[in-house]
Amino acid sequence: MIPNQWYAILESDQIRRGRLTGVTRMGEKLVAWRDGAGTAHIMGDRCPHRGAAFSAGKLTGECVQCPFHGFEFDPRGACTLIPANGRAATPPKAMRAQAYETREAHGLVYIWWGEPRASYPPLPFFDNLPDRLAYVTFRDPWPVHYSRAIENQLDVLHLPFVHHNTIGAGGQTVVHGPVVCERELAPGSWLLEAWLDNELDHGQVARKPSEMPAPTGRPLIQFHYPNVWQLWLGDDVRVFVAFAPVDDANTLVYARQYHSFTIPGLRQVADLFSLFSTFIILRQDKDVVITQRPIRSDLKMDEILVPGDLPIILYRKRRQALMQ
Ligand code: FES
Ligand SMILES: [Fe+2]
Repeated sequence: MIPNQWYAILESDQIRRGRLTGVTRMGEKLVAWRDGAGTAHIMGDRCPHRGAAFSAGKLTGECVQCPFHGFEFDPRGACTLIPANGRAATPPKAMRAQAYETREAHGLVYIWWGEPRASYPPLPFFDNLPDRLAYVTFRDPWPVHYSRAIENQLDVLHLPFVHHNTIGAGGQTVVHGPVVCERELAPGSWLLEAWLDNELDHGQVARKPSEMPAPTGRPLIQFHYPNVWQLWLGDDVRVFVAFAPVDDANTLVYARQYHSFTIPGLRQVADLFSLFSTFIILRQDKDVVITQRPIRSDLKMDEILVPGDLPIILYRKRRQALMQ
């Protein structure tokens, strides 16, 4: 994983008030809950006393109580009670659980993966994706490292093949460019944008990225490191994906279709249609991505890329740079 980044790892409705939820993300067992005010918290799902899972315990007020010996920990990971020592005793400072900085926005829960800071960069999302739009989410586990799942959404060559009978119908196999820009929105917070120009092959040679004119209009694809992506289909129509790293071999794909049909009844119809189309298209992607070997990508690896792979090349370079 790229360190020192906010990762979208859950949707808000996966964390309930008054209940401990155990999940695996970022290669770790985590426990998530909401306090009385509704604020989401996430800690490592391991008691520092003797390693029992907090998620099998319970909430006592604002604290998590371990199921084994009843030690209690506040949302910052500090131990507030060791019953065996007596309520009057002060727990040692070293008795700490691993707490993660947690934020919530746009129906997503983010954790900070890295060193604690005095101030944090903004949460990765898209300024141009308004909260007034409705959405429905399709959640799908992919047995691949998240880098492979992300690269699939930056892959501009696959449409006429993988999606030959859906969004890639028409056989526009020639890919000019593509034009790709990178912007650093805040220190360490990067956005990648791509504009596409596909054509039927009528004997022309695809223009290289360096031969393309400067981009105009909205980018079709935006990727905000480390793990959220957007496809711009219209002012009120977007596809959004958060790639939640589960571990080095698994990713939870949260794919949303945003639309503007907010009136009850109409909304249900739009949601159903969106769910169905997301399911079909993502299944086409997944069927081929799970065959890629190795299951994670790296900057230096045994693959021979072509000019149209520019978004993937830039992703790998930026990822490598951020990891260092
Ligand atoms: S293992 Fe958690 S209190 Fe002992
Ligand atoms: Fe695809």
